[in-house]
Amino acid sequence: MPTNMLKQEAINAIRASYQLLRTEKNLSPMNHRVTDSLTHLVRTLTRCQSPELAKFLLDAPELAVERENLPVLCGIAECEMEKFWAKHLIGRPVCDLAEFWYFPEYTELCQAELDLFKTRKFDRISFLGAGALPLTAFLLARHCPQSKVICVDFDEEACALAEQLSRKIGLKEQVSVERMDALQYMPGENELVICASLLQGREQVYKNLQSHNCALLVRDAEGPYQYLYKAAELPAVTSFREIAKTQVDARRINTSRYFERAAEWMENARAA
Ligand SMILES: C[S@@+](CC[C@H](N)C(=O)[O-])C[C@H]1O[C@@H](n2cnc3c(N)ncnc32)[C@H](O)[C@@H]1O
Repeated sequence: MPTNMLKQEAINAIRASYQLLRTEKNLSPMNHRVTDSLTHLVRTLTRCQSPELAKFLLDAPELAVERENLPVLCGIAECEMEKFWAKHLIGRPVCDLAEFWYFPEYTELCQAELDLFKTRKFDRISFLGAGALPLTAFLLARHCPQSKVICVDFDEEACALAEQLSRKIGLKEQVSVERMDALQYMPGENELVICASLLQGREQVYKNLQSHNCALLVRDAEGPYQYLYKAAELPAVTSFREIAKTQVDARRINTSRYFERAAEWMENARAA
């Protein structure tokens, strides 16, 4: 398709999703208008990854209101979607996570993230802002059977659903759920802390973590996917050093950045 046609298609999809989401009361998958609109939006943005088109969409003044507000509405819809799917999967006689619409994207994302820290083995992996369907936590638990996995969320219903799912898929011993604000979370020794893309208060979370011996993985959004998720604030370079990141890829919505503590990184660099 010529770039101009795709450009117009993207503008239309962004505007239509924003108009719909800001007026609908129910943003869960029970509302087919919301599901259809968001499915179309994700598919359209996935086709808009050329640097020229990405730059146009991010700089377009006529989309400034959508750029600011659509990710917030998408975040609400995502929380609703996770609860809907968690309930659906818990109710099945056999719980197959692969039924979830975005399972292939999460599998790709998790595989790309594992590559970022493949030289390290963590005793614990925590997922801050894990949600009702903490797929990342479950996938990582299966890949890293030596690591304890802790899901942290301040939403009571999300925690209850995540706990039931963890039990249902046989990961209860390895994956625990803690209901608390991520701002209060204290990591243990040799822990990888993952900040979900919808984590609120992440700047304070980074500050709390800087005095602990932990590595950090931050879910970010780049290019046109910033109409779905806001770009993540990143930790101060004096506290954490970015060691590796995943590349923008049409098979994954988020990009991820892996950090180690700056002090530790300096020691390793000196020793090398
Ligand atoms: C849609 S969900 C799941 C995460 C998503 N799958 C992702 O990768 O970003 C986002 C969750 O983050 C939780 N959350 C946001 N900020 C939080 C905070 N400061 N502390 C604890 N939970 C938080 C919300 O309650 C919500 O359940």
